[in-house]
Amino acid sequence: KSIKVFAPATVANVVCGYDVLGFAVNQPGDEVIMTLTEGKGITISKITGDDGKLPLNPAKNTVSASVQHYLNHIGKPDLGVEIELHKKMPIGSGLGSSSASTVAGLFAINTLMDNLLTNKELVPFAMKGEELACGYGHADNVAPALMGGFVLIRSYQPLDIISLPFPEEMHAAIVYPEVDVPTKDARQMIRSKVLLKDAVTQWGNVAGLVSGLFMKDYDLIGRSMTDILVEPTRSILIPDFYKLRSIAMKNGAVGFGISGSGPSVFALTKDAETASKITEKLKQHLKSISINSLSFVSEV
Ligand code: HSE
Repeated sequence: KSIKVFAPATVANVVCGYDVLGFAVNQPGDEVIMTLTEGKGITISKITGDDGKLPLNPAKNTVSASVQHYLNHIGKPDLGVEIELHKKMPIGSGLGSSSASTVAGLFAINTLMDNLLTNKELVPFAMKGEELACGYGHADNVAPALMGGFVLIRSYQPLDIISLPFPEEMHAAIVYPEVDVPTKDARQMIRSKVLLKDAVTQWGNVAGLVSGLFMKDYDLIGRSMTDILVEPTRSILIPDFYKLRSIAMKNGAVGFGISGSGPSVFALTKDAETASKITEKLKQHLKSISINSLSFVSEV
């Protein structure tokens, strides 16, 4: 028995919702081909598209580690499983690269096991993969990758995950400036204490963004996409971040920010044409300051 699964890139945080908001896009994403074998245990037979960066050792690879966790849970720890991973998006880009691979692997094994668990029930297993990848099991990439669309992680303990509605025609312009920003470092640089007055501003924006999504009110969505806690610190890792924002906003973005822990940036737009125009302008600017970039015009 064999199965091929695609899992999507995700934009975590969505500016104001650090660790609690994220959305999935239709592309890019990663692919896993999984085969049940006569042998014992998990093997990774092939990884492509990673420039040799990812470990083939099943104990160290996030995909196999979370699949193993799933197999232990369902009482089949020694099941023979062969995994091929095809990375189709850049690693360390802030687009939920590790999450897409992990989610593809978990979705594959769960399908091969006749859907013993729901997609939502797979989230804690995928969080184990994130923990291995960056030291902390955040869910704002894996939950949207598994469930699609916009997702709110209302609580981590206990885990409480809510799918949010959003305007159907919404698109994302995504640009990945090719500079290195490891999630682990980008998490460590954030202040761990905040002032109450800043918290008030932030939760006002999170509530505003969620309300805007429900009400399909682009103006409310846009003015809520403000982050005073994390972005001011992380933006220094991204070349010309505030210039990129002003270019995106001038060209019709609803809102703009860092995707996950960066260095990718994204703009939400009302249609594909605006997203495409914004990606071109952002790429052009990055080129003018000698930074190569990749871009995607994606459906939310
Ligand atoms: N919420 C996580 C962070 C997402 O910002 O560190 C990482 O992609």
